[in-house]
Amino acid sequence: MMIELQEITKKYGSKVVLDDISEKIETGEFFVILGPSGAGKSTLLKIMAGIEKPDKGRIIVDGKDITNLPPEKRNIAMVFQNYALYPNMTVYDNIAFPLKMKHIKKEEIDKKVKRVAELLKISDILNMPVTRISGGQQQRVALARAIVREPSFYLLDEPLSNLDARVRLIARGELKRIQKELNGTFIYVTHDQKEAMSLADRIAVLHEGKFEQVGKPDELYEFPKTKWVAEFIGEFPMNFLPGDIVGEDNSIEIGFRPEWAKIGGDLTAIVYSVEAVGENIYLFCKLKNKDLSIVILSEERYDVGDEITFKIIKYKKFKEGKLIS
Ligand SMILES: Nc1ncnc2c1ncn2[C@@H]1O[C@H](COP(=O)(O)OP(=O)(O)OP(=O)(O)O)[C@@H](O)[C@H]1O
Ligand SMILES: [Mg+2]
Repeated sequence: MMIELQEITKKYGSKVVLDDISEKIETGEFFVILGPSGAGKSTLLKIMAGIEKPDKGRIIVDGKDITNLPPEKRNIAMVFQNYALYPNMTVYDNIAFPLKMKHIKKEEIDKKVKRVAELLKISDILNMPVTRISGGQQQRVALARAIVREPSFYLLDEPLSNLDARVRLIARGELKRIQKELNGTFIYVTHDQKEAMSLADRIAVLHEGKFEQVGKPDELYEFPKTKWVAEFIGEFPMNFLPGDIVGEDNSIEIGFRPEWAKIGGDLTAIVYSVEAVGENIYLFCKLKNKDLSIVILSEERYDVGDEITFKIIKYKKFKEGKLIS
């Protein structure tokens, strides 16, 4: 299903939460809406679901205007962070429930439930009461219950956020697999850039009511249109220094990722913190003479207080907060 947002605008009181948002989401796309808390992500999703009405704008699905359709007529699946399973039912009955409501035949329901359980790898717990399965399993049951209705598209609002870090990583991978197997159009909301980078075909960065940038994860990382995006995307924010440090105009800023600098060179800095992330060592440094913080990826371990020299091997230029080259 192709979904088109046209000039979506939403205000709460005098506060403009969504400001004239337009975008096309392709069939089979994993589209992530990324933004900080309060950016309006859930509001946008609720508008797509039909739970909220936009003040202006339209939602077109496969060429049909659905802006005024009630949620139950939109054939969408929605999975929220605080999904609620029916506590006194088994896993099986939870998944079967939306089909029973549609008066589908028992054998047909059974086939569908078993197929979706296989897809989500929960076949072995179908007869368990949902109160006795783990959080990660509950999350999958919620997803199974959404999928079983064979919706046109999926709206997911931080559906993994109440899982612990390890389970969350696994669930992420599974979600991507499920999406590809279903060839489903997924619209997924998160404030976690790492999650967005690992899941998305495309990411829309929502900031001050607008999609500040929409692009593939590596595009956002390599060519952030604004400083704000450059700082929001990445394990660490992009580093920024005044241009004259690398022989550029003073009115521009140069931005570089931690791995775009190399130890050894004519810039000097003092290490004030060291952080190992997986196999990588990041040095948090202050530039000598200037009170500027930067993070550099290093092959060697340094200690706090060490002086290092470095050079910047790759950078982007920004002027007034915007990428110029
Ligand atoms: N029903 C409402 N009435 C008034 N203001 C609202 C309402 N719903 C949301 N808001 C406001 O709109 C803004 C966006 O809220 P929204 O829930 O969409 O943010 P979000 O990006 O989903 O944030 P989070 O990551 O914290 O879930 C917030 O400032 C919020 O306070
Ligand atoms: Mg939200």
